[in-house]
Amino acid sequence: MSVSRYDLVLADVILPDGRVADLSIRDGLVCHTGAPLPAEQIISCRGMTVLPGAIDMHVHLRGGIQREKEDWESGSMSAIAGGVTVVVDQPNTIPPLTTPEAFRSRVAEAGRNSCCSFAINAGVTPGTDLSALWQEGAMAFGEIFAAPSSYGEGLSPEDLSAALSGIGRLGGLATIHAEEAGTAIPGTLADHNRNRPPRGETKIVQAIVQSHGKSARLHFCHLSVASSVAAAGTASVEVTPHHLFLSIEQSIGSDTLRKVNPPIRSERERKQLEGMWDRIDVIASDHAPHTLREKDVPFGDAPSGIPGVETMLPLLVARMKEGRLSRASLMEKTSWRPADILGIPRAGFLPGARADFALYGEGITAISVDELHSRAGWTPYEGFPAVFPEQVILGGAPAYHGGEFHETAPLWFPGRGYYP
Ligand code: DOR
Ligand code: ZN
Repeated sequence: MSVSRYDLVLADVILPDGRVADLSIRDGLVCHTGAPLPAEQIISCRGMTVLPGAIDMHVHLRGGIQREKEDWESGSMSAIAGGVTVVVDQPNTIPPLTTPEAFRSRVAEAGRNSCCSFAINAGVTPGTDLSALWQEGAMAFGEIFAAPSSYGEGLSPEDLSAALSGIGRLGGLATIHAEEAGTAIPGTLADHNRNRPPRGETKIVQAIVQSHGKSARLHFCHLSVASSVAAAGTASVEVTPHHLFLSIEQSIGSDTLRKVNPPIRSERERKQLEGMWDRIDVIASDHAPHTLREKDVPFGDAPSGIPGVETMLPLLVARMKEGRLSRASLMEKTSWRPADILGIPRAGFLPGARADFALYGEGITAISVDELHSRAGWTPYEGFPAVFPEQVILGGAPAYHGGEFHETAPLWFPGRGYYP
């Protein structure tokens, strides 16, 4: 009897239930979990923590006239080197992604240049043809801006309400940037926090849940305080590493580097947000790269945004190794819940799962900007404890090993409305 060979075996993988098994992989899928089957390549995972590839459902990969900040090539390399195998790109590009033509060309550009798998959201401005973008393959709508942010005008309450009703009728997912912004020009992080206060964010979450919680599928992006998480009802809740790891009181370089919307909060509020861990559905980076030159201006003039797709898993894996969060909750919030919310097949350990993995070693190191791949060229986490992946597998093929990238076949995941 001839036995057809598998593409790859990941040997001695510690499964979520503690058993050790070999994963035999073919055509991008796990085919057998147990004893190894004959394969072209075997990778030993002994001594490694193997996690399913993360889905970062909130990245701004820029490109076009903003390619100095980032583009698909640099942003996707940053993702892969951080254990993220699927990114969901945000539509506040210049120009914004609000027409079928712009959407198609974004998909084509990502298809040519991305080294990780990807999905792309549709922008929502007054008068956007939501149905056309849904059929074009938008994964979700938004982030929809309830208040102005970098490269995003805030929608009026009426326009926001009309958009949420329209998305509800399509059966789409509305992803919302919930904030209330004052008009003051902030000079410091504390001013910025007062100008876009926690209670404003919570109020907007409450109002949207009340008006549209039953008629549209809602996902709240980057909630920054515990009261907003508590107000989200049955909507899904996303929180960023910067709101979990950074606070106003820390003194780590210039304040403009930590200027982001919603703002970094007080240490007390950061701790309360951490206390909501079990209710948080998704950790996503809100990777929003700006260059150092753009940030090296008076606080009020600096753009908002922090790069973070590459440091998200490394920061969290270090926390896991320190015993401060469980491996199960890490896999849920960085891979499985985002997959379920978006309708992307899960990556994982059992037959039928998508074969995307990141292999993390034992040692905790310190983050250094010199080793990161984003064109932003800086990080607010310099020196923070982290564990970077040694190897990353994408679609059953080695994509990254010891700092080297290898060509694989990234996938585009269109949303459920896709009608080619
Ligand atoms: O700080 C932010 N930066 N918040 C956003 O909502 C947008 C983002 C960006 O695109 O720079
Ligand atoms: Zn946002």
